[in-house]
Amino acid sequence: MANTILIGAQWGDEGKGKIIDVLTEKADIVVRTQGGNNAGHTVYLGKKKYVLHLIPSGILRRGKVCVIGNGVVIDPVSLVEEIDGLLKLGVRVKNLYISESAHLVFPYHRELDSQREILKGKNKIGTTKRGIGPAYGDKAARTGLRMIDLINAERFAGVLRLKIKENNEILKAFGAKPLNYATVHKAYREAGDRLKQYVTNTVVLLHHATRRGDNVLFEGAQGTFLDIDHGTYPFVTSSNTTSGGACTGSGVAPNRMDRVVGVMKAYTTRVGEGPLPSENPEIADMLHAMGREFGATTGRPRRCGWFDAVATHHACMVNGIDDLAVTNLDGLDTIETIKVCVGYRAGLQRLDYVPADIELLAKCEPIYVEFPGWQQPTDKCRSWKQLPVNARKYLKAIAKLTGAELYIVSVGPAREQTIFV
Ligand code: IMP
Repeated sequence: MANTILIGAQWGDEGKGKIIDVLTEKADIVVRTQGGNNAGHTVYLGKKKYVLHLIPSGILRRGKVCVIGNGVVIDPVSLVEEIDGLLKLGVRVKNLYISESAHLVFPYHRELDSQREILKGKNKIGTTKRGIGPAYGDKAARTGLRMIDLINAERFAGVLRLKIKENNEILKAFGAKPLNYATVHKAYREAGDRLKQYVTNTVVLLHHATRRGDNVLFEGAQGTFLDIDHGTYPFVTSSNTTSGGACTGSGVAPNRMDRVVGVMKAYTTRVGEGPLPSENPEIADMLHAMGREFGATTGRPRRCGWFDAVATHHACMVNGIDDLAVTNLDGLDTIETIKVCVGYRAGLQRLDYVPADIELLAKCEPIYVEFPGWQQPTDKCRSWKQLPVNARKYLKAIAKLTGAELYIVSVGPAREQTIFV
């Protein structure tokens, strides 16, 4: 399997958790390289449902090494809760390594995230309110605190006091309640003491692993169009969700990477605000009525639409996707005629890429081609041949439009509902 970067080719929630879990079987190490607990990766094992936010889903398979890389922002209290949640479900949290360089998320980041959203009013981003933007903001401004600071008790007490003082002034200006230093310090100190055992130099660890020839799987969070550089800015998250982020967020060099797998749904979804050219309320109603498409982290109903081949083709370009994993095919099982967006029309212009100008993107009208549906359940199909002919035609067409090889088709949440093409 070699060193594989797995990324979301749409707006996040592509079903990466399940595909990562399936690919982890052949991996020795699974690495998270960006984002924070804004992510929610759902994995079903038998009847048990696990939602992972910061810990790589490799933790659910015995013997796999899991790494939280330097590019991730960590809310340590929430990470401890996640570890405890896994322990309660009978999952042993062994072989977990956390980068000493990973930045920390504090309660003032969360509060600032909320306050800025309130201030933006109807122009809000629709963030997960996990403090992700302000935490990456501190990192870029070189005023952030890192895991290495947290596990050094003496140093932490001093730097945290200054940070609380500074941020309380900002919170007061927003009219928000200031934070109590002692309360934050106690909670973070306790979390730091619990996490200390996992903290190490993960760059060196991964360097030795790749030299040994270990198979490393880089687990992307969010999706291409939420990327801070390549997404639908400003309606994006604050990290590089595209394949380049796997290198900077882990310290593994680009020439050590062997392939990029792009995960995409057989249709399109997005949570939060921002343009979504192929959005379609009827598909949204249908999928919500089936109990599908509610956010794993916030429970918000996702916006839904037809498959947008302009977007996935653009994602292929930005990420260098070699192989495609198409998920949620079964979500389309009952539809008579399926549409696919193959171009955008903006006035007299036809675009075949996602424009950087958000106002232009918001004006884009999708150009559709239609495919006959298959109108029969696919969730019990276990091989390419068992899939209905129209489903195979549809999958081949969207892969061709995207520009990468069809590799996996997923027809349900369970491990066995996975077809290798
Ligand atoms: P933030 O990452 O919480 O700042 O949110 C910024 C945008 O990214 C919002 O539109 C969120 O809904 C979206 N977002 C963040 N994390 C995820 C995710 O894991 N899946 C889908 N959307 C996400």
